Amino acid sequence: MLRTDTPVTVHRKDYTPPAFAIEHVDLVFELDPQRTVVTSTLRFARRQAGAPLVLAGEALELLGVSVDGQPLADYRQDDGGLTLNGLPEQGTLQIVSACQPEANTTLSGLYVSNGNFFTQCEAEGFRRITYFLDRPDVMATYRVTLRADKAAYPVLLSNGNLIGEQELDGGRHEAVWEDPFPKPSYLFAIVAGKLQCIEQRITTGSGKEKLLQVWVEPQDLDKTQHAMDSLIHAIRWDEQRFGLELDLDRFMIVAVGDFNMGAMENKGLNIFNTKYVLANAATATDTDFFNIESVVGHEYFHNWTGNRVTCRDWFQLSLKEGLTVFRDQEFSADMMAQQGADDGSARAVKRIEDVRVLRQVQFPEDAGPMAHPVRPDSYEEINNFYTVTVYEKGAEVVRMYQTLLGRDGFRKGMDLYFQRHDGQAVTCDDFLAAMADANGRDLTQFGRWYSQAGTPVVGVHTDWDADQGRLTLTLTQQCPKVGIETQPGTPEKQPFHIPFALGLIGEDGKDLPLQLDGEAAAGDTTRVLNFTEARQTFRFVNLPKGPRAPLPSLLRNFSAPVIVDVDYSDDELTFLLAHDSDPFNRWEAGQRLATRALLKLVADVQAGRELELDHALIGAFRSVLTDTSLSPAFREQALMLPAEAYLAERMGVADPAAIHRARQFMRAGLARTLQSDWLGAYETSATTGPYRPDAESAGKRALRNLALGYLVEVGDDAMYALAGEQYQQADNMTDRFAALTALVNSFAPGREAALADFYQRFEHDPLVVDKWFSLQGMQRGEVGPHAGKRTIDTVRALMQHPAFTLRNPNRARALIFSFCSGNPAQFHAEDGSGYEFWAEQVLALDAINPQVAARLARALDRWQKYTLPLRDRMRAALERVAAADKLSRDVREIVGKALSA
Ligand code: TRP
Ligand code: ZN
Repeated sequence: MLRTDTPVTVHRKDYTPPAFAIEHVDLVFELDPQRTVVTSTLRFARRQAGAPLVLAGEALELLGVSVDGQPLADYRQDDGGLTLNGLPEQGTLQIVSACQPEANTTLSGLYVSNGNFFTQCEAEGFRRITYFLDRPDVMATYRVTLRADKAAYPVLLSNGNLIGEQELDGGRHEAVWEDPFPKPSYLFAIVAGKLQCIEQRITTGSGKEKLLQVWVEPQDLDKTQHAMDSLIHAIRWDEQRFGLELDLDRFMIVAVGDFNMGAMENKGLNIFNTKYVLANAATATDTDFFNIESVVGHEYFHNWTGNRVTCRDWFQLSLKEGLTVFRDQEFSADMMAQQGADDGSARAVKRIEDVRVLRQVQFPEDAGPMAHPVRPDSYEEINNFYTVTVYEKGAEVVRMYQTLLGRDGFRKGMDLYFQRHDGQAVTCDDFLAAMADANGRDLTQFGRWYSQAGTPVVGVHTDWDADQGRLTLTLTQQCPKVGIETQPGTPEKQPFHIPFALGLIGEDGKDLPLQLDGEAAAGDTTRVLNFTEARQTFRFVNLPKGPRAPLPSLLRNFSAPVIVDVDYSDDELTFLLAHDSDPFNRWEAGQRLATRALLKLVADVQAGRELELDHALIGAFRSVLTDTSLSPAFREQALMLPAEAYLAERMGVADPAAIHRARQFMRAGLARTLQSDWLGAYETSATTGPYRPDAESAGKRALRNLALGYLVEVGDDAMYALAGEQYQQADNMTDRFAALTALVNSFAPGREAALADFYQRFEHDPLVVDKWFSLQGMQRGEVGPHAGKRTIDTVRALMQHPAFTLRNPNRARALIFSFCSGNPAQFHAEDGSGYEFWAEQVLALDAINPQVAARLARALDRWQKYTLPLRDRMRAALERVAAADKLSRDVREIVGKALSA
């Protein structure tokens, strides 16, 4: 159901505790896809004299209300829910209502996917199942009875433990589940249908036996082992790293093909998008395998960070999400280090990938109309605040505690956090207090990371005293107001507490011991500076005297989510790329070199100058490519050019067509100049034996496939044949899909045939069909006045394909989002054809699924950053959407904020 009322802004400062506690919830479901009747029996207790009980409810049919067994007359029903007056101090409230699962296309609340029932309650979906105090600070124990036709719904699942099952009349059966842990309503879940599972029993650290299950549709059972293995790894890791054990006797993962996001941490019954569960060598890529491990870990880790300790209100979302992303990042890094190269770069590869996302997606968000602090102060629709800022920047904030306090100090803070708050709904301030108190540190200023938005820019100035061997480093920080902060009355911003990790590198390429002025002796070779002022000076002494200053390696391992504005020369960057002991900064030096060269090419394209290859860059790339002391995974990261979206952000005024031409020119140049080296890497990084998705072999495939991508840019038949051969011969999806991608994007003669072949092979596997759509949404098109094939035409044609549907979010994302957000050069076609398509699809999706529509709506967030004809056309498209007579609150907030920025 769409809401068309004027938007209401919810403010953090308006938080008040609930007027009633609900201590226990008993739910009975008579499951029927057309109309499911829910009987909810609540044990309540008044916490505030005189106040009515205001229950939220949406898209519900109310069938009856009674208190302590007597029908209640004194209530009021409206759009948003139910207001009950004159309730006793405590008692039992029973509400009977009905909802329509099959008609529910929002995928929030109770819905049907491929004939089975699923729920999604975070953030506010429980109110679409029954009337309730649907807010995270109301925690209750739940007992759930599921009744359904046995033939159609043989499996009935809910949170906690199965305590009873029985046959009923008329071919129906029931199951009763009880969850002993008090939880907020957003963690409630049920699943019912024709599902099968693999299961495994494990013994936890303290010797208790647990049952683990992964539930899927029967045809997918052969794709569940990796998810199960990932779950077991996650359980072990949380015991070892944080001393946290699984608390329930049974832990279930269920996969569903229609899902708005990645997965959901419902207590004991995690529900996953199939994309993050199903994998085998033939159908899933190395990236899919890694993502599954990471998402399975993420949801499992929520059991402590989110479920046992939850959020007081939705403004505190990063309390659980930032912390849990940090935990899943550390988990993945540790797993990669276990299986990856032993040169120490395996963890850095994970860090590089995370930072790439942060810069490509979060930095733009933090500079655009939706900019908000990690702990937002207001929202219109909470679903719009499941953002990269709350998740990924939130994880950076948690990481900074660890950087400041050390691993042991961080662990002490975590222990105190659980000691104080287990079973509670708390705030980001509570987390900060636990970290501060456990370590005897004052983190008041650090707290600004929660309240101020924007990406700070750090300036660096060095002064070398050759006679004394002293290096004076002056750091400055700046973070102008962004997004909602620009509204009048917002306080001035204050400096952040930035943990600034740095090293100094001597002439021989080795790290120098670091001694600050005033210290008795030199310490480690990497120092975390507490950078807290707008401008601050640090003086390093006792360095080797001489004319050449040591070279600073700045912000090692990306120790804070900031932009470091520094003027390295090409020689210095080349030196850092070759010698920095911090692998992240080696990568960073290469990216800085490439970014600089690319931005220069972009300027040349814009000025109509002849394009020339940058020889320093080619030399640097050749050294990395041929340096076999570096792991293949690391080399692949270092040889990947900065993305077009990243380059757009780095320009004052973004010009997607020029960026694309410049980047293509460089790719083709690198391909041709280094052809024999690429071929060498292609051959030497072949893997042998049966497919295994471990980090080391995945790294080899990544480098090999990167090389293939460059080689087809050479544009000759031999290289096309190489890709064609790999496509045909591949025994795994990683290699097959990489070859297909190379063929499609190089306009190889065999591209259409390969696409057709791929579809035919995999048409019965929805997740692979998604890949096929997505590849075509992102495919390169010809740009310029003689443009032959525009990607928009392909995309529009594919919308008519029998396998396409807007109703399935994965499918919509595969085609539409990949074009609108993953193909900047084509999406931003000068004629505005991309924006027209965007407006049409936002409106079409909004009528089906507002959450998904609002995500797509964000593709035009940065409209003001673009060159003129584009900017006007984007505004026109935004206005067209804003003017629609029916809009969800979700989409209205996004386009409203974009237009008023
Ligand atoms: N809490 C979930 C996670 O991060 C994500 C989530 C939030 C979600 N809202 C959702 C998933 C709505 C699906 C639908 O793990
Ligand atoms: Zn999460």
